[in-house]
Amino acid sequence: MLRNVICALDTGDLNEAITTVQRLSPRVAAFKVGHGLTLPHGLGVLDKLREAGAQRIFLDLKFHDIPNSVALAVREAAKHDVWMMTLHISGGPAMLTAAIEEAKNVSEEKRPLLMGVSVLTSLDEHTLQGDLGVDRSLKDHMLYLSRMGIDHGLDGVICSAEEIKDIRDVLGTNGIIATPGIRLPGGATHDQRRVGEPKQALEDGADYLVIGRALTAASDLEAVLDRLDSVGE
Ligand code: C5P
Repeated sequence: MLRNVICALDTGDLNEAITTVQRLSPRVAAFKVGHGLTLPHGLGVLDKLREAGAQRIFLDLKFHDIPNSVALAVREAAKHDVWMMTLHISGGPAMLTAAIEEAKNVSEEKRPLLMGVSVLTSLDEHTLQGDLGVDRSLKDHMLYLSRMGIDHGLDGVICSAEEIKDIRDVLGTNGIIATPGIRLPGGATHDQRRVGEPKQALEDGADYLVIGRALTAASDLEAVLDRLDSVGE
């Protein structure tokens, strides 16, 4: 099951991130890196994590800009052999197409997977409709954007555990689903509101589970890894 797990490195401390990579790299599929590490340390941090053993890196910077700027961002990220990266689907078809065209310039085996973010889980329906002026329900808008992203050539989408089933129904077998907010049964929810458990998330149709604190803050890491390993057996 650990081949489905992406460990989120949510720290600005490079040494801490390297220690986590050294402890986990033989066991998990990939490591997720966001602004916390790239803003203080630059994209060179990805090379350092790779040297520490991270074979695959998921760069979660959620690009959202005019097509030319997003294409430039994809180009720079791809120079660091990023395996997967995120962009906001609401950037629109031209932005998605520019990103996909840029990714295609990278050789097939090194081409980054482009994952779309539909509606941030921090937004609720009241904000979406009242403040942002979107007519659809939050769920319909999320499904609409996810479908649109995949139709325009994205490799997959990010969604919370509660949304996996609906998204998988809409996408069919097309498209990778990666889901954060995953906890082992009985684990602390921290600041997450919509958490899911690994077995259910995989059964609902997720391909990858993004797990941060349940791994990085574990008092008994081996026990957590063993429990994750046994999921799906
Ligand atoms: O520690 P935890 O497992 O909650 O970390 C989850 C990771 O997934 C964090 O990097 C967080 O930013 C990210 N994420 C999330 N919820 C989303 C999108 C991303 O928790 N909807």
